[in-house]
Amino acid sequence: MGISANAAICRSPDTPFTIEEVTLDEPRAGELVVRIAACGICHTDMAVRDDHIPIPKPIILGHEGAGTVEQVGEGVTHVKPGDRVIISFNSCGDCPNCDTDAPTYCYNFGPNNFSGLRADGSHTVHIGEAPVQANFFGQSSFATRALAHERNVVKVPTSAADIPLEQLAPLGCGLMTGAGAVLRSMAVRKGMPIAVFGTGAVGLGAIMAAKIAGADPIIAVDVHDARLELARERGATHVFNAKGDPIAKIAELCPQGLAYAFDTTGLKSVIEDAFGLVAPKGILGLVGASPPTDMLALNESALMGGGKRVIGILGGDSNIQGFLEELIEHHVAGRFPYEGLIRVFPFDEINEAFHAGESGEVVKPVLKMPE
Ligand SMILES: NC(=O)c1ccc[n+]([C@@H]2O[C@H](COP(=O)([O-])OP(=O)(O)OC[C@H]3O[C@@H](n4cnc5c(N)ncnc54)[C@H](O)[C@@H]3O)[C@@H](O)[C@H]2O)c1
Ligand SMILES: [Zn+2]
Ligand SMILES: [Zn+2]
Repeated sequence: MGISANAAICRSPDTPFTIEEVTLDEPRAGELVVRIAACGICHTDMAVRDDHIPIPKPIILGHEGAGTVEQVGEGVTHVKPGDRVIISFNSCGDCPNCDTDAPTYCYNFGPNNFSGLRADGSHTVHIGEAPVQANFFGQSSFATRALAHERNVVKVPTSAADIPLEQLAPLGCGLMTGAGAVLRSMAVRKGMPIAVFGTGAVGLGAIMAAKIAGADPIIAVDVHDARLELARERGATHVFNAKGDPIAKIAELCPQGLAYAFDTTGLKSVIEDAFGLVAPKGILGLVGASPPTDMLALNESALMGGGKRVIGILGGDSNIQGFLEELIEHHVAGRFPYEGLIRVFPFDEINEAFHAGESGEVVKPVLKMPE
């Protein structure tokens, strides 16, 4: 039978998204159908479109969905039809890292998020008779409906009952990753210096969280002055344009080094320069998507002698059920003021929305689906 929806289909890096009618599977055990109200656009959607993260096409992207539960499959009990939910990354729930509350490092992260299929290899969506890759981050929310999973939907708390879903959707990836990197992965300490390289949604999420954590100074680096201004408004104490030798300026400002350096650019040269600034026992956290051929060159004795750590970070080590609520609480209290970073586009303007995100004009484009 199936459930009909309209979804944005990505066919190649060079063709625009087209909105087409698709059929979703009926929800299986542990799955649910969400009527999508809005979905944020994250740089990772672009990375898949451009084949930097290789998944076969055609594919339905979108991994910052929010909406209302329409139908639940067997065994789904923490949400029910009518509940407002945010959708995030999926995880298996049954591996050494899921077992220890580290689902962003699920041993089965790939099959559950990046295969375009269910973890068991089956398709979730068809166009006519033809299968299309979906289940991206366990959702594929560039669509009017998405098939999600028990483990990747979070019920919107009553404290956020008045916040529209287009404002809650982008919490599910970029903002959560930046905030989680600071509050969870690196556990930034009060009074310690941090520099954030790249102030897109992830970097700005990190800066707002660094202010919550009481880091000092909070240094932001980007190539766009407009983004640096946004960083300053949200907590950066110092901002440096990447074109004006930020490394020398940071070294002068923090002669003992940075306790935390956080890279969101994914650029090898930026990461290697940032490593040179890290203080003894400092942490360099990496989240940016880089070309698969890039190899870092780091000095071994500087790494060992200083007891430094270079860590990869996925999803900000967020255990979404608790962490998204925590972020919403910060937001409601005015400590996580991301609303001004969003621009809402109607779903059928998805190509314009991507362009606005890529040109740097908009930090967080969000698609709003028709009612
Ligand atoms: N690891 C994860 O869990 C995770 C989650 C979300 C996003 N990501 C990745 O994180 C990265 C950031 O995502 P985003 O949505 O914030 O992207 P974005 O493109 O909005 O932000 C990147 C920023 O880096 C800036 N930049 C470019 N060159 C620079 C340079 N030389 N020095 C300093 N800044 C520079 C850009 O101007 C931009 O503002 C992307 O690669 C994305 O795929 C990773
Ligand atoms: Zn797992
Ligand atoms: Zn993302």
